[in-house]
Amino acid sequence: MPDQYAVIGNPIRHSKSPLIHAEFARQTSLDLTYIALSAEPDEFENVVDRFRREGGRGMNVTLPFKHRAFALANGRSARAVQAEAANTLTFRDGAVAADNTDGVGLVRDLTSNLGCALNGARILLMGAGGAAYGVCGPLLEQQPGRLVIANRTLQKAVALCERFRVAYPHVSLGARGYGALSQDQFDVVINATAAGLHDELPPLPAGVFAPNALAYEMVYGRVTPFLEFARREGARGADGLGMLVEQAAESFFIWRGVRPETAPVIALLRGS
Ligand code: ATR
Repeated sequence: MPDQYAVIGNPIRHSKSPLIHAEFARQTSLDLTYIALSAEPDEFENVVDRFRREGGRGMNVTLPFKHRAFALANGRSARAVQAEAANTLTFRDGAVAADNTDGVGLVRDLTSNLGCALNGARILLMGAGGAAYGVCGPLLEQQPGRLVIANRTLQKAVALCERFRVAYPHVSLGARGYGALSQDQFDVVINATAAGLHDELPPLPAGVFAPNALAYEMVYGRVTPFLEFARREGARGADGLGMLVEQAAESFFIWRGVRPETAPVIALLRGS
């Protein structure tokens, strides 16, 4: 019987994770299955527990359950603790271990796939919800020259900064409202807001992109208003497909101890 893995979320029908992990398994010649599981809001813990008791080895967790996945685990990686959320659960010896590979997935896509050096870079992170929490620590780990977090609700950006400032005292870290960004320029601007999902544009002022800047949209598979804005402003744009594949590769590595090649899988998904 092959080892069983799954992704759980709601909605989950359009998840690309089963295809990505099937490609990783094929590439590494590992015998495993990976399915998509939907859970009603009040059923999440039960569905995880059932999958585990029936022999499941691990799960990816997506919206809206990442906080609850973190809460139900009895072991948590430093990355999961930083994010207060988990996207990867490992079932071993009766225990549930939680990890979060979103941030490392973003960092690998930026640095390895997109050739974007983060060390010393001026980074603007837009948004202060779960997506921003998930990537903030790994971005700070790269020792950017500066990280500014902008959010419509300024208080949430301030709270996010306060949470991370203690662990990264050597990085310049600040919170701003969008209106206060007009004097600044950034080498990397990351959209971790939900605006793109609603075809909306965060209220960014013109001129925030430094020469040769990269605009990174965490939403994938469509040209969002942010990517259109970036193009008009002369910045290079990237969507979040690479991050999706990279976070999956890190989960695969946690489970199987093998790091799959991501470039052919990204190319395959771009083609399909
Ligand atoms: P998640 O946990 O999935 O990130 P969330 O906690 O609802 O979702 O956060 C969504 C983020 O997108 C927030 O930072 C939100 O800004 P506010 O905190 O000010 O609400 C941001 N967001 C959503 N729509 C936006 C828009 N049209 N423009 C700018 N920011 C937006």
